[in-house]
Amino acid sequence: MTKKSPTLFGVVVVMDDPLTLKPEPSSKQVGRAQGIYASASQTEFGLLMAMNFAFTEGKYNGSSLSILGRNTVLSTVRELPVVGGSGLFRFARGYAHAKTHSLNFTSADAVVEYNVYVFHY
Ligand SMILES: *[C@@H]1O[C@H](CO)[C@@H](O)[C@H](O)[C@H]1NC(C)=O
Ligand SMILES: *[C@@H]1O[C@H](CO)[C@@H](O)[C@H](O)[C@H]1NC(C)=O
Repeated sequence: MTKKSPTLFGVVVVMDDPLTLKPEPSSKQVGRAQGIYASASQTEFGLLMAMNFAFTEGKYNGSSLSILGRNTVLSTVRELPVVGGSGLFRFARGYAHAKTHSLNFTSADAVVEYNVYVFHY
């Protein structure tokens, strides 16, 4: 069914991508975006994302944020809930706005900007 689906419904991908300060892959890496996303809509490109931002720099080194939400990848801005965190982000609650910066259809690489707003202790 996934093969025939226009939205690749059912496909599951595991990711471990660099989190950088700027869109250029060569810019400073501050962590990894690790998780799973699945095509969960039969009618549009709508992903279910379960992802951790694992920080590796500065005072947030070793801390993480957990994001769980719906990502309609073709929308200009997608809002995903931040459902928790660890370390300095313990008890984190908030949201992330995801915006596609660039998309390379040949390599299937995407650069996505995340603006994250969280309350934490
Ligand atoms: C981050 O923490 C790890 C584990 O404690 C440590 O090995 C590493 O050097 C730290 N990185 C930075 C940039 O402080
Ligand atoms: C897109 O990816 C292809 C294959 O990796 C690469 O050759 C090309 O330079 C990339 N295009 C841009 C604009 O980065």
